[in-house]
Amino acid sequence: MKHHLLVVDDEKEILRSLTLTFAKDYEVSAVSSGTEALALLAQRDIALIIADQRMPEMSGAELLARAIEIKPNAIRMILTGYTDTAALVQAINQGHIYQYINKPWDRQELKLAVQRALEHYELAMENQRLLKALQAANERLNDENLLLKKEAGREPAFMDAVIGQSPAMRRIFDLLGKVIDNAATVLLTGETGTGKTLLARHIHAHGPRKGKLFIEQNCGALPETLLESELFGHKRGAFTGAVQDHKGLFEVADGGTLLLDEISEMSAALQVKLLQILQDGRFRRVGESHYRQVDVRVIAATNRDLSAEIETGRFRSDLYYRLNVFPLHVPPLRERSEDIPLLAEHCLRKYRHKLNRQTTGFTEATLQALLQYDYPGNVRELENLIERALILNSDTLIEPGEWLPRFCPDDSELSRLEQVERAEIARLFELHQGNIRLIAKDLGISRTTLWRRMKEYRIGFRTAPNPPVSI
Ligand SMILES: Nc1ncnc2c1ncn2[C@@H]1O[C@H](COP(=O)(O)OP(=O)(O)O)[C@@H](O)[C@H]1O
Ligand SMILES: [Mg+2]
Repeated sequence: MKHHLLVVDDEKEILRSLTLTFAKDYEVSAVSSGTEALALLAQRDIALIIADQRMPEMSGAELLARAIEIKPNAIRMILTGYTDTAALVQAINQGHIYQYINKPWDRQELKLAVQRALEHYELAMENQRLLKALQAANERLNDENLLLKKEAGREPAFMDAVIGQSPAMRRIFDLLGKVIDNAATVLLTGETGTGKTLLARHIHAHGPRKGKLFIEQNCGALPETLLESELFGHKRGAFTGAVQDHKGLFEVADGGTLLLDEISEMSAALQVKLLQILQDGRFRRVGESHYRQVDVRVIAATNRDLSAEIETGRFRSDLYYRLNVFPLHVPPLRERSEDIPLLAEHCLRKYRHKLNRQTTGFTEATLQALLQYDYPGNVRELENLIERALILNSDTLIEPGEWLPRFCPDDSELSRLEQVERAEIARLFELHQGNIRLIAKDLGISRTTLWRRMKEYRIGFRTAPNPPVSI
C-alpha cells in the first residue's frame, strides 16, 4: 500500500515539482492553502504533510499545529527559508513539526528525509497497534510481551532505543546515566556504524534539553569556509555570495544539542573557534566584529584516534582535552558479539513492518552464522543484512541464504594456517636442500603427505606439474 502525502504551497510551481518528486513512490495530494489542507486531512488517511511556511492566509507552522488535532500521527514537515528560523524553532519546540527542510532543497535529500520520516511513522503506527493489542490481551503477559509494552509506550518510537547487554554496552549505559543530566561535552569514539549518532541522540532525547533542537553536522562534509559559516553564521556581504545574514547552527541549536561528527576533519582555524565557544559560549559570525553568546551542548564524534592526530599536529591538544571531558568509546560489534542476537531481533522489528513480513525470528543456523560474522560495518551492516534477509525471505523464520555475507572464519583461519605451513616447508626445503626424508621428519608428517603439500604449494617445483628436484 502506498503512503499518502499531502503537499501544501501557494506557489503552483513548487506544488508541481513536489508532486513530480513523489508521485512515483507515493500517492500525492497537492493543495494551495491551509484551509484546503485541513479539509483533506479530515477525509483522507494522510501519512505525511509537507507545508510551505510562507503562505498568505495561514502559515505552514499554523497549519501544522492545527493538523495535529485532526491527524495526530501524520508526520509534519515544513519548507522554509533560513530567515524563518526563529518562528520555526518555537514550533519545533512545541512538537508541532517533525522536521524542517531548507529552501532550496536537494531533491534526493528531500526524498530520503521523507522516506526516513515515513519509517518513523510506520513504527509509531506499529507501536500504537501493539499497545492496543496488548491492552486488549491484558493477561498472561510473558516477558516478551512486557518488553513490547514498554517499548510501545515509549516516546518517540523504539527505533531510537539503544540496544545491548554486553559488558561494554552496560558500561556505556552506566556512563550515560552520569552524563545525560548535565551539559558536559561528550566525545564519542568508535568505528563507523557502531552507534555514535544514536547515542548522541539518546543523550539529547533523555536529558533536560530534550524539548530543544538536536542538530548534527558532519565536519568532513563541507570545505572549511562553508563549514565555518554553517556553524557560526555570517554577516551579509562577508564574502562573495553572502547575500543575507545567516544564522549558524550554534545559534539555531541554542538551548539544544549540536553533534559535531568527524571532528578530526575540522581545520586548525575552526578548531580555535570551537575551543572558544566551548570555553565561554562566545563566538562571532563570519564578517561580524561583535561576539554572540549561546548555550549549546556539544557532542563530538570521531572514528579516528585523536591522540594520533595530535601527534601529527592535525588536531589541537587543548581542544582535545576540552572535548574529552567525558569520553565514551563504543567498541566494534565484533568485540561484543553478545549483542548480536538482540540487535538482530531489534532490526527485524524495525524492518518487518516496513516490508510487510510476518517474520518472527531466525533459525538456529541463521543465528549461528550471524554470530560468526565480523561486521566491518558494525551495527549498520547488521541492520542492512537483516533488511536484505527480510526482502529475500517471507517465511516465519529467517533461514540462512544468499543474504548472509560470504565469510567463514574457519576458512580464513585455515588459509592462515596454510600460509604458516607453506613458509615452514619452504624454510626446511632450503635448510635440507630439498631432502624430503629430512623435511618430513622435521615436520612430523609422512613423505606422501609432504609430497602432496609441496605440490599444492608448488614448493620445489620449477614448473608444475613435473617431478620434484630431488628425493
Ligand atoms: N546499540 C544499538 N541499538 C540499536 N540500534 C543501533 C545500536 N547501535 C547502532 N544502531 C543502529 O545502527 C545504525 C548505525 O548507527 P549510527 O549511530 O549511525 O552509527 P555511527 O554514528 O557510529 O556511524 C543506526 O541505524 C542505529 O540506529
Ligand atoms: Mg554517525
